[in-house]
Amino acid sequence: MTSTLAGLREHATRLAGQSIPELIAEEPARARDFALRVGPLYANFSRQRYDRNALAALVALARQADIPQALRSLIDGDKVNVSEGRAALHTSLRSNLGTTGIAREAHAQALAARECMATLIAELEASSVTDIVNVGIGGSDLGPRLVADALKDFHSGRFRVHFITNVDGSDAQHTLRHLDPARTAAILVSKTFGTQETLLNGRILRDWLGGSERLYAVSANVPKAEAFGVDASRVLPMWDWVGGRYSLWSSVGFAIALAIGMSQFEALLAGAADMDAHALEAPMDRNLPVLHALTGVWNRNALDLATHAVLPYDERLALLPSYLQQLVMESLGKSVRSDGASVDSQTVPVLWGGAGTNAQHSFFQALHQGTQTIPSDFIGTIAPAHGYVDNHTALLANLLAQTEALANGHAADDPQKSYPGNRPSTLLLLDALTPHSLGALIAMYEHSVYVQSVLWGINAFDQWGVELGKKIAGDLLPALADHDVHIADPVTRSLLQEIRSRL
Ligand code: F6P
Repeated sequence: MTSTLAGLREHATRLAGQSIPELIAEEPARARDFALRVGPLYANFSRQRYDRNALAALVALARQADIPQALRSLIDGDKVNVSEGRAALHTSLRSNLGTTGIAREAHAQALAARECMATLIAELEASSVTDIVNVGIGGSDLGPRLVADALKDFHSGRFRVHFITNVDGSDAQHTLRHLDPARTAAILVSKTFGTQETLLNGRILRDWLGGSERLYAVSANVPKAEAFGVDASRVLPMWDWVGGRYSLWSSVGFAIALAIGMSQFEALLAGAADMDAHALEAPMDRNLPVLHALTGVWNRNALDLATHAVLPYDERLALLPSYLQQLVMESLGKSVRSDGASVDSQTVPVLWGGAGTNAQHSFFQALHQGTQTIPSDFIGTIAPAHGYVDNHTALLANLLAQTEALANGHAADDPQKSYPGNRPSTLLLLDALTPHSLGALIAMYEHSVYVQSVLWGINAFDQWGVELGKKIAGDLLPALADHDVHIADPVTRSLLQEIRSRL
């Protein structure tokens, strides 16, 4: 029997009358059976609103879509980014699982670039530089920023790292005012070296540094970086076979490696490589990224849930929701299939979230009693990296309590004090937050995104949706400076008049 996205709805209809606690009561072993461990990462899916049969239909869907072959294609460097005719070989940045010359060559290039990065790091370590400013946006900012922040317990202390991303000049102003140009190096990170925000902020840094000696770049467009004034010896390569949002494993991670040192950076890559091997080799029904992806498809397509919350119970992972917003929504925010036809199902949910327990005191009210059911990923760390035992115990107690309360709810005579429950969540637990486990966690999300893209028939590696706004902004630049430039859109014309009258 073939399994289809529409067929999943039949399972959802069959299960509609059963709540999560009822499903668990019926299948008491599911707390164990719907869980799996991959190295330092434990996942529990037992509080999702599916049963064994629905899960079997989901796994059948993955088999029919030939996910193992799709993962093999990705890792072997097939041109999975169809609209741009490119491979997406981020896995080659950290593992050597490819069976093709293209994938192996990519891996060799990645190793060579890592050596260059290590040399530049050694030079900087021997210099009087104390501060590093990473200038980039999107994938050239979010990954390095997340990892540098999450791994603050692993910082060597040799450098402080800072990030400037927004074209809003306040970002540069507030970051630079505490720094000494004579002791600061800047890394301009841009795959294209054509991104407006990064070029404008790059100019600020170039001027502020008063020369290009401590100006570095990471780019797939080396000539453009050189033309900007970065000496070729300080430009680290990127390639068109790595998508920006999948690039933290490359030289884009320069700021990470400066913060935590090369050996910890290698440990981050090793964690991701372990997840690559697991994704490629594990059977579909014991494959963590595949089960995570299938759960996403179940919530989106069978239960029609339009948003998804990511809730790290570890302050060091507070930036994870922002990072995943780009990874998930830029990859899966598509309504046209790779072949150009419209999709026939919903695709990406709106991804959002925040760190617990803080979020409990803001939007958790809506998670518990709002009219929408919001599925979530709770992410916790078992061993803390601090000695405040009582705090950590409270953190874990809250994490467990929230997943239980969301699933089980609570009936009270007073409707204001009733909790409907039946709100699904997945629990992801790291043994400890280390470079290795963080690498595994991020790679898990990357593979989950790719699997969902295959199931929906969309391209996870392009982002045409961001281009129109960029073009219009480019067209409007002269109009902001010159009153005579004609603007066709009547609303924009009127808004410009308002702005000009107050400038
Ligand atoms: O505008 C979207 C985007 O292209 C992202 O996909 C990318 O991560 C970001 O801009 C930055 O691009 P670049 O690294 O080329 O500056």
